[in-house]
Amino acid sequence: MISTLQSRMLRGADGDPAPRLAYGADYNPEQWPRDVWEEDVRLMQEAGVTVVSVGIFSWARIQPGPDTWDFGWLDEVMDLLHAGGIGVDLATATASPPPWLTTAHPEILPVTANGETLWPGARQHWRPTSPVFREHALRLVREIATRYQDHPALVAWHVSNELGCHNVYDFSDDAARAFRLWLRARYGTLDALNHAWGTAFWSQRYSDWEQILPPRLAASHPNPTQQLDFKRFSSDALKDHLIAEREILKEITPGIPVTTNFMVMGNTKGMNYPDWADEIDFVSNDHYVHPGPQDRDELSFSANLTSGIAAGRPWFLMEHSTSAVNWQPVNVAKRPGDLARDALLHVAHGADAVCYFQWRQSAAGAEKYHSAMVPHAGRDSDVFRAVAELGATLKALAPVAGSERETASVGILYDWESWWASEQDSHPTSLLDYRQEALDWYSALLALGVRADLVTTRADLSRHRVLIAPVLHVVPAGLAKELTCYAEQGGHLVTTYFSGIVDENDHVWLGGYPGALRDLLGIRIEEFGPLLAGESVELDDSAAGTLWTDRITVTDADTQVLAHYRTGVHTGRPAITRRPTGAGSASYVSTRLGVDGLRALLPRLLEPAGVSSELPADVRGAVELTVRRGDGERFLFLVNRTDATVPVSGLAGDVLTGGTPGTDGALVLGPREVAVLRQPAG
Ligand code: GLA
Ligand code: GLA
Repeated sequence: MISTLQSRMLRGADGDPAPRLAYGADYNPEQWPRDVWEEDVRLMQEAGVTVVSVGIFSWARIQPGPDTWDFGWLDEVMDLLHAGGIGVDLATATASPPPWLTTAHPEILPVTANGETLWPGARQHWRPTSPVFREHALRLVREIATRYQDHPALVAWHVSNELGCHNVYDFSDDAARAFRLWLRARYGTLDALNHAWGTAFWSQRYSDWEQILPPRLAASHPNPTQQLDFKRFSSDALKDHLIAEREILKEITPGIPVTTNFMVMGNTKGMNYPDWADEIDFVSNDHYVHPGPQDRDELSFSANLTSGIAAGRPWFLMEHSTSAVNWQPVNVAKRPGDLARDALLHVAHGADAVCYFQWRQSAAGAEKYHSAMVPHAGRDSDVFRAVAELGATLKALAPVAGSERETASVGILYDWESWWASEQDSHPTSLLDYRQEALDWYSALLALGVRADLVTTRADLSRHRVLIAPVLHVVPAGLAKELTCYAEQGGHLVTTYFSGIVDENDHVWLGGYPGALRDLLGIRIEEFGPLLAGESVELDDSAAGTLWTDRITVTDADTQVLAHYRTGVHTGRPAITRRPTGAGSASYVSTRLGVDGLRALLPRLLEPAGVSSELPADVRGAVELTVRRGDGERFLFLVNRTDATVPVSGLAGDVLTGGTPGTDGALVLGPREVAVLRQPAG
């Protein structure tokens, strides 16, 4: 199950060949005097750390001037870590260009849509398309790779850092040039571009490629297809940078796995990660909790989606936090138990590593109030004790390493193109939130105790008995066909408002909405009915809808109406429909029901597909179940979603970690506790 590349990363530098889960952090020794480094290694050993990411922001230290190099300190760090049995995920150090470079070459600095330069002084102030930046960055990558190619501590390469975190959209002249080249490759001719962009509108027709610009600050709404293509291009430009660094690393160290840390979390949507995943040897992700009512559902959702991006294979949690961060309006500390539960939720969804930002909390700099494995208080702290305890738990979970996600009956389709396009400007509503709609469906399934996989359009959709595709706005002809076959061959498709509306050029499918899916759903909509903020409508199944309604006409005799509108302008008209298609079906939900409404509706959508919870009835909603599958065995992760004690009975298996024995063979989960059971695979 574990590829050679991954086993190297999981093995760490102590040479123990037994698979295990990796544990560690970003390690920034350049912020500390030399004598702290030895204490660091000692404490890492005490905590059970196996791997650290080094050098992420070290460019200015490694290369103090255009032709001067200082590797002595890093040699020493690498040697110390190796002697301590700790592997190094070595960064290419290109994330933050040094002052000498930006002073000599201010033309590498990114430019906003308004034409403002993003100056040095923070980090990631570089244009993804700057040839000057690329040249300097690749030179650095080559120097580092050459120097450490044979170092025994080296277990993986960490390309840059969170590519696109601050610089995904650059509107500079370099970007304009690269955008034109990208458009030429996509469209071939100006006629094709003019058609795709619909430039007959507002006198936008281009007669020369040089006239084309990124969607800079304009007098009114910029061309929507230009905007969509700029999003595609910007993601590709960063992917190109990733590939350029990877090529050098592969040339020098073909046997060392290469990764880069994604940011599948919250509203980070600039990078089309499903499209990047094939370019690296294993997927890594960073995740930070945004405190709020759905915060841990969101954590589970992000981890689940990362697993989908990794095609169900194990992935690396490269960063999360032991407690508070420093970049939210109010930075809330974690409660007792949160540290372990948050980490293990990622493992439950396929992470084979648990790493933090960062090892030792900084005394200076913008992130000095960001938590770490060793906090300001030092070793004698609850955080460090919890960190060491988690290290022991991860050791006990070694058998899980390398196991994959076991496919769930329900899939939720998450589509970057629809995310990008559905939230663009000049639409029926600016209140639509693509990710929130998907998260609400996921939360409702968690509340019912039904396991679901987040999947992307690259996955084999037929593996799920029920496929939920919220706000699947962009439906090219090929996808419409795939979904139609899916439903005709026995799959149960569920989709929602503003789905099936446009093709890949953001052109509306004509003849009535939801264009591409109209026949499959057996309905026709002449006009959208978005709702004002705070406005809601009632449905006759006692649910309430917000955000959106549709004026639906049923067009197929077989289409059933599952609920009607009881109030509002569409009173008496269908609100939720379902069209049987042979062994399958296609359902449509025309309004935003929210978690409670979806929770009430879902059993009616799941039942015809024969899907229900695998959990004992009394713990559904209180416990999240995930399943990882290894060679001849399965691992059941039981996550207590509540702050109360929950006894779970009726699940067979040996306990690898978590829970305490209760009466009648029950396994009792403490508040927010995670238990892992191992059982033979049937
Ligand atoms: C990101 C970065 C880290 C650090 C953390 C703080 O994940 O990659 O360098 O800034 O955020 O949360
Ligand atoms: C104005 C403009 C039109 C059109 C409408 C849209 O009236 O003159 O071209 O943009 O707004 O409401």
